[in-house]
Amino acid sequence: MKIAILSKGSANYTTRRLKEVAIARGHEVRVINYAKCYMTVERGNPVVYYKGERLTDIDAIIPRIGQTYTKYGSAVVRQFEMQGVYTTTSSIAIVRSRDKLRAYQLLAKAEVGVPKTVFARETADFDEVIEVAGGAPLIIKVARGTHGNGVVLAETRKAAKAVMQAFYVEGVSFLVQEFVEESAGSDIRALVVGGRVVASIKRQSLDDDFRSNTHQGGVGTAVKLTDEEEKTAVRAAKAMGLPICGVDMMRSARGPLVLEVNSSASLRTPETVTDRDVATKIIEYIERNAKGRRRKDRVGA
Ligand SMILES: Nc1ncnc2c1ncn2[C@@H]1O[C@H](COP(=O)(O)OP(=O)(O)O)[C@@H](O)[C@H]1O
Ligand SMILES: [Mg+2]
Repeated sequence: MKIAILSKGSANYTTRRLKEVAIARGHEVRVINYAKCYMTVERGNPVVYYKGERLTDIDAIIPRIGQTYTKYGSAVVRQFEMQGVYTTTSSIAIVRSRDKLRAYQLLAKAEVGVPKTVFARETADFDEVIEVAGGAPLIIKVARGTHGNGVVLAETRKAAKAVMQAFYVEGVSFLVQEFVEESAGSDIRALVVGGRVVASIKRQSLDDDFRSNTHQGGVGTAVKLTDEEEKTAVRAAKAMGLPICGVDMMRSARGPLVLEVNSSASLRTPETVTDRDVATKIIEYIERNAKGRRRKDRVGA
């Protein structure tokens, strides 16, 4: 098969691993910087260009779209979809996974446990929002944040109100969420491939930060999931229409609560701290699925 990895970093661990495994399994692979692609749209003839070349003979794409490139990157993916090219992640699934409010709505609808979340904008009465969310301490997060950068722990009502006001005057959409105190500073990432958890790690912040993101200094170790956690991860992946993804969960007194579902999860920590070969699972998944009929997105949002 001719496989294109849509990635801005050919030296990136995940991109390298996918490429090396695909080559070892006899595929032709290229890494394409989607940010440098351009596209022509006209009736019946969708073309993607890359460095002056028409990309017309690709069988499958693996999108690895960065958060700041969601809009353009998903348009490139869509253009390939229009050509009938198989993609491991549909453009619509990328877009909805990047919007935290939409993701929580879809997860809750699918009966997946999520932290209690309040979303408000213009007419927000902040005291009321704090009340509905269960009072301080509270988590306030930017609707389109990533790597833990837009997530704040407000320990008091006063602090919560001040943070909301700051976001509000800047016109930033945010969510207010119950603080899952039981496992503050740690979360679990389950990598799902084709309806199965193929690797799982626990990330723990080493200082007193409540955020466990690797980008905030969190450290990952292998962890065995409970049946309930495994089921939750699989159900969350399905709810988001993402056959290949990373599901982040917190262990709470009332069971696993999903924080987010990542459409281009890194393989680096999961592969280095567990003995799982996730890249091979992904390429095998493509081999099984790229040939058949394109699956319709059934999430409907
Ligand atoms: N409701 C919460 N209660 C406690 N900790 C949280 C909560 N939400 C997020 N966190 C912590 O903050 C980190 C980042 O939050 P997350 O929603 O995943 O945003 P991001 O997209 O920036 O990673 C999580 O990995 C977790 O450690
Ligand atoms: Mg996260």
